[in-house]
Amino acid sequence: MKGFLEDANYSIGLLDEGATLADVIDNCIYEHTHTGKRAFYVGDLGKLVKKNIQWQNVMAPIKPFYPVKCNSTPGVLEILGTLGIGFACSSKSEMALVQDLGISPENIIYTNPCKQASQIKYAAKAGINIMTCDNDIELKKIARSHPNAKLLLHIATEDITADEEMNMKFGTTLKNCRHLMECAKEFGIQIVGVKFHVSNTCKELQTYIHAISDARCVFDMAEEFGFKMDILDIGGGFTGSELQLEEVNHVIRPLLDIYFPKESGVNVIAEPGCYYVSSAFTLAVNIIAKKTECDKLLPSGVEQTRNDDEPVFTYYINDGVYGSFASKLSEKLNTIPEVHKKYKEDEPLFTSSLWGPSCDELDQIVENCLLPELSVGDWLIFDNMGSGTLGEQSTFNDYQRPLIYYMMSFSDWDEMQDAGITSDTMKNFFFVPSCIQLSSEDRFSTAA
Ligand SMILES: Cc1ncc(COP(=O)(O)O)c(C=O)c1O
Repeated sequence: MKGFLEDANYSIGLLDEGATLADVIDNCIYEHTHTGKRAFYVGDLGKLVKKNIQWQNVMAPIKPFYPVKCNSTPGVLEILGTLGIGFACSSKSEMALVQDLGISPENIIYTNPCKQASQIKYAAKAGINIMTCDNDIELKKIARSHPNAKLLLHIATEDITADEEMNMKFGTTLKNCRHLMECAKEFGIQIVGVKFHVSNTCKELQTYIHAISDARCVFDMAEEFGFKMDILDIGGGFTGSELQLEEVNHVIRPLLDIYFPKESGVNVIAEPGCYYVSSAFTLAVNIIAKKTECDKLLPSGVEQTRNDDEPVFTYYINDGVYGSFASKLSEKLNTIPEVHKKYKEDEPLFTSSLWGPSCDELDQIVENCLLPELSVGDWLIFDNMGSGTLGEQSTFNDYQRPLIYYMMSFSDWDEMQDAGITSDTMKNFFFVPSCIQLSSEDRFSTAA
């Protein structure tokens, strides 16, 4: 068997020519239909390799530092680590995870804006020196716990269109940067660069222009204080679309060339999270309960576009906001599932809502969508579920984490080997030719 390692922990199914993600999902559903119908993810790791190639083509030499909090599953971390990407960690456990993969401290930055002193000490011990900071209390805490720390001053961005919460909460003003430099001088702490973050919901690319200009001002200010700064971190916010990546590049490249030319010795880095992982993971969930509501219970704000006697369905699925849909709590998720079972094109569609299994009033996943009538035991498929859903999760109400099946096409596997990743470099994985039976009609039977 190609790439088999005796002590590897995880397997990646290599897909034969012609087999698709849909075939993998069909197979898993077929298996699960007989073994408890647990929710599961299929992670196409080949997509990460492709995303990295795209990043190198469009964004090089900007070095990516992947934010571990976006998706810390072993397949993702190991692939990205072997591709030579750095990591942005927000906690001790994330730092430990990437250290276990053998990532060197220079390739790790500690980016939590509110760090626990004990975790700063952990970073100090591990030789992880680069960390972000946006206020003087944090700076003093860092000075006490990690005298060799190298700070990136996190400046606020001015996204007027979206994610105001993020802007308001984190990042400092130019004026305060001067104060922070005075504090850093007083406490003997090095400042080595600037970081900003533009949310991926930001439609206004001007935000980058302001942020890079502001960063230049901070670099100039630092010279007055005698700090030698050589890192500019432009954060995350790349959706995964090649077009958006090119648009951002088109806006930032000329500015970077003017303000931070190669000769300046400034290394520009970024923290693309969603970009790498979002589209790589698909979640399959099972309907565990169903209710038919009468008309008056139609959710507020839902347009009355149907006959009074049409039913409204409420479906409960075996994953929710206390699991894979956690980002729904911050309103980031706006996703409508596909129905797995085949249904006729002219089948009537009904107003439906989807809820998680907790019976908690916050556990609503989709408030209102049109679906054919479904039964308990049917499966729903959510795509683009790779970001923000696969980190640390609670175990509310016996929540059972979905299983993860990793896959990759043989052609992506070849590409990966061209990129220098072999079964020897992926220490925790073994590659197995997957035994996908291409879909047959009887696989779509979804009896409860
Ligand atoms: C400070 C910071 N940097 C980077 C990221 C990654 O962002 P994205 O997944 O949009 O690339 C986030 C995500 O919330 C963030 O808060």
